[in-house]
Amino acid sequence: MDYRQLLEKAREALKFSYAPYSNLRVGAALLANGKTFLGANYECVSYGLSICAERSAIINANMAGATDIEAIAVVSDKGAITPCGACRQFIYEASMRCGRDIKVVFESESGIKIEIKRISELLPEAFGRA
Ligand code: THU
Repeated sequence: MDYRQLLEKAREALKFSYAPYSNLRVGAALLANGKTFLGANYECVSYGLSICAERSAIINANMAGATDIEAIAVVSDKGAITPCGACRQFIYEASMRCGRDIKVVFESESGIKIEIKRISELLPEAFGRA
């Protein structure tokens, strides 16, 4: 599975998105322990309770015992997207847990290239355990 394929898997996850309030469908796919796991955003009428696609994918993988995360890809149905601040912190937590600087894969603004950045690059000087 290369990272372009992982991005395509994230696109498949869009069909599981439940986003009646924002109308922004977000899909994620992660590679952990040699398998792929999907996630999608899931909203709630009390908006703050909504869950992002990336966090949904990490919990999905965890429930299958897959915590050794190599990479996570994210897409939306309305163009390029990068993980929100909360998800960056959540990915950082997963990276501390498995001891890998997780790769985050997303589309470039033009939609032609794919971008691959490490979580340490997307969340520099992250808050960690004191
Ligand atoms: N969203 C994600 O799923 N991931 C992100 O990293 C950014 C935002 C979702 C949350 C909400 O359901 C919708 O996008 C609009 O903010």
